[in-house]
Amino acid sequence: MKHFLSNLSLNTRQTAIDSLMDNAATTVPDPVYFSIGLPNRELLPKRQLHEVYNSIFNLKSDSHFNYGGSKGIAPLLSTISKRENISQDYIMITTGNTQGVELSARLVLNTGDTIAFESYTYAIAHSLTHQYSLNALEIPVEADGMNIEALEQLLQKTAIKALYIIPNANNPTGTTLSLKKRKKLVDLAYQYNFLIIEDDPYRDLIFDTRFPSLFELDPYKEKVIYLYSFSKTIAPTLRTGFILAHPFYIKKLEQFKQTTDSCTSPLNQMVVNEMIKTEDWDNSLEKQRAFYETKKDLTKKFLSKMADMYGWTSNEPAGGLFYWVDTHAGDVTEWLRFAANSGVIFIPGSAFALDDQTNTKFRLCYSYVDNQEMIKGFTRLEESFLEWQNQNTTKNIKKIQQNI
Ligand SMILES: Cc1ncc(COP(=O)(O)O)c(C=O)c1O
Repeated sequence: MKHFLSNLSLNTRQTAIDSLMDNAATTVPDPVYFSIGLPNRELLPKRQLHEVYNSIFNLKSDSHFNYGGSKGIAPLLSTISKRENISQDYIMITTGNTQGVELSARLVLNTGDTIAFESYTYAIAHSLTHQYSLNALEIPVEADGMNIEALEQLLQKTAIKALYIIPNANNPTGTTLSLKKRKKLVDLAYQYNFLIIEDDPYRDLIFDTRFPSLFELDPYKEKVIYLYSFSKTIAPTLRTGFILAHPFYIKKLEQFKQTTDSCTSPLNQMVVNEMIKTEDWDNSLEKQRAFYETKKDLTKKFLSKMADMYGWTSNEPAGGLFYWVDTHAGDVTEWLRFAANSGVIFIPGSAFALDDQTNTKFRLCYSYVDNQEMIKGFTRLEESFLEWQNQNTTKNIKKIQQNI
């Protein structure tokens, strides 16, 4: 077809997750999805949302049915300003962190710029690389987050424009950046002059003590754009989050927001404001953390058995929704076909790598399925893993026999 596609369209690709999940079709009637990075159904605050929407519909004013300012509605800006302890000049409401990532990219990135990511990271962030034709680099991640020494070595040789990082309960690795590394990273941003895009949707799901954000640690608020979303702690459907950044950047971001979606739904912003403005919100977050910690513990038990029996390795996450597991047993994309046949789905590690390399790791999301389903899912993971390994052994024996 003779097409009219822009370079941006031509550069856009299906995310690695989408293409990999084409392999994960299952005909089992009761599949267990360890692939879905969503809040648990039990935690969806349906009753509260019902009450809050009702109360808003009963208001005399209709302003929430109209457009709002691009920066966000006044009551929500005021609540966030209090909660984050920062002036409203530094805040803009977003339609979730997906928009926060895209607007931050528009703010600072030019074609050919160099951006650094954690290896591994959120697949949607990688899309920027293709769309903006960036030179992308991956920095290895350790148990306490990005390897800052490796980053520093890279910076000594190569200038980067931006670094994208998920410092708390990373998606997919589950790792959390230590305080020492956070301080060093902010220092490096000043020393080597790059911007940090801090994508932080999991901070309120850190089970114990939470470290200050990179944005909080930035003394002049010039080197960090901070992104928070209510998708994981209220519900993704509200499509509401916020950016914290220097007012110089916020002004520009507002201009982009005007041409992107004009504003985040004022109705949903009002709902979020009602949900988070009182202490009930802190109690809700406390409950959510306890809920997910139980699921993490259940998963830990299963993984420690798999470690003993089959040599799997994993780091225990300090919060969030994900376990990152290394099977050390071949390309897990092949295993996914066996797993899907037996009714359990996970996401292969290559979905979170820049170059779709085959690998032995996978992301196990423990948030979405209920505890009974989890047990069933663990059994299916083990059985399908064995089936896959046995098939590999048979193949290898055949190869050896052919060569004799
Ligand atoms: C690191 C990260 N950023 C952004 C998002 C998407 O956030 P939102 O729903 O706010 O657009 C996700 C969702 O999985 C995520 O894991």
